[in-house]
Amino acid sequence: MLLDNHGRTINYLRLAVTDRCNLRCHYCMPEHGLQWLSRSALLSYEEMLRLCRVLIGLGINKIRITGGEPFVRKDLMKFLTELSRLEGLQQINLTTNGVVTAPLVPELKKTGIHSVNLSLDTLDRERFFQISRRDELPQVLDTLDALLRHNIPVKINAVVMDGQNTEDIIPLTRLTQNLPVGVRFIEEMPFNGGDHLNTRPLWDHRRILDTLSETWPDLEKIPDPPFSTSMNYRIPGHRGNVGIIAAWSRTFCGTCNRLRITPQGVLKTCLYDHGVLHLRDLMRSGLTDSELTDRLLYVLNHRHKNGWEAEEARRGIPVEESMATIGG
Ligand code: GTP
Ligand code: 5AD
Ligand code: SF4
Repeated sequence: MLLDNHGRTINYLRLAVTDRCNLRCHYCMPEHGLQWLSRSALLSYEEMLRLCRVLIGLGINKIRITGGEPFVRKDLMKFLTELSRLEGLQQINLTTNGVVTAPLVPELKKTGIHSVNLSLDTLDRERFFQISRRDELPQVLDTLDALLRHNIPVKINAVVMDGQNTEDIIPLTRLTQNLPVGVRFIEEMPFNGGDHLNTRPLWDHRRILDTLSETWPDLEKIPDPPFSTSMNYRIPGHRGNVGIIAAWSRTFCGTCNRLRITPQGVLKTCLYDHGVLHLRDLMRSGLTDSELTDRLLYVLNHRHKNGWEAEEARRGIPVEESMATIGG
């Protein structure tokens, strides 16, 4: 078992395979001035597989593929198939915006994907366009439908944004009435390609919970799975459940089990840190697996206690990342 310097189990890797996306959500990217990474700046699939192998050897057993939008990277399916053959890996999960995913669901099922988290902030076509600057809601709903038909467990991720989609909290939650899905509302974080850290989001986890409780006073807390980012609830009689992710308030750092690798191969041991190891450059400079392992163990032994400490440590280094270059 891999432990960090605070005694936390590390068994979960979030691997961002691309910084590119086919949507332009305000909370994730600026509208203009986007500079995509060049092909050579990205980790190759071979490099990713190598890192996954080394990390599985250390104790990682769950890998979540993120982006950008993972499916805009060529040959993702082939990569997922190879990943699924790695011994010691128990789960491969995926976070996608669902725009081009629907036709690929049967193949995803074949690779043995464990679950899919689908980003969906609104059920209203016009608001979807306002938020994502693209008119793709029907395609995303097709993906939801295809995932459910193939019995792939689905969670819906909705970032809650003041003045943009708070009226969607109730309709999105209503999906849980007849569908076996988890709908999770996320506090908005400041990573949208701007250059400053925002203050507390206007819609924090308490306000989201109050809104849910007003409509459903019988909302019941249910136990959270180990290492859960969400606080989970159920509405009596509903098939699915509802969760709140205090991503900005960082209430779950005490059980943080995750590492991140960005599309350009930077290792982050906290979402809020500035990057602690340049794995791509180390690999390209010829480090052996055992040398890589030593470097990894070192940074895992020097992890920040929580997202507040990680954020504090990067003061002075402007936050120019967007969520697409971190991988969420
Ligand atoms: P599960 O594996 O299903 O629990 O998913 P997850 O919550 O780990 O991943 P997902 O990609 O669905 O992320 C949902 C939201 O939680 C996104 O906004 C993420 O940025 C946020 N999130 C995920 N992990 C962390 C984390 O370690 N810290 C913080 N602050 N936010 C996180
Ligand atoms: N704040 C909170 N969550 C975000 N995501 C993307 N950008 C932000 C942000 N600024 C979410 C997406 C996706 C997940 C990986 O991260 O909705 O589901
Ligand atoms: Fe882990 Fe950092 Fe997220 Fe806290 S904010 S849960 S320490 S990644």
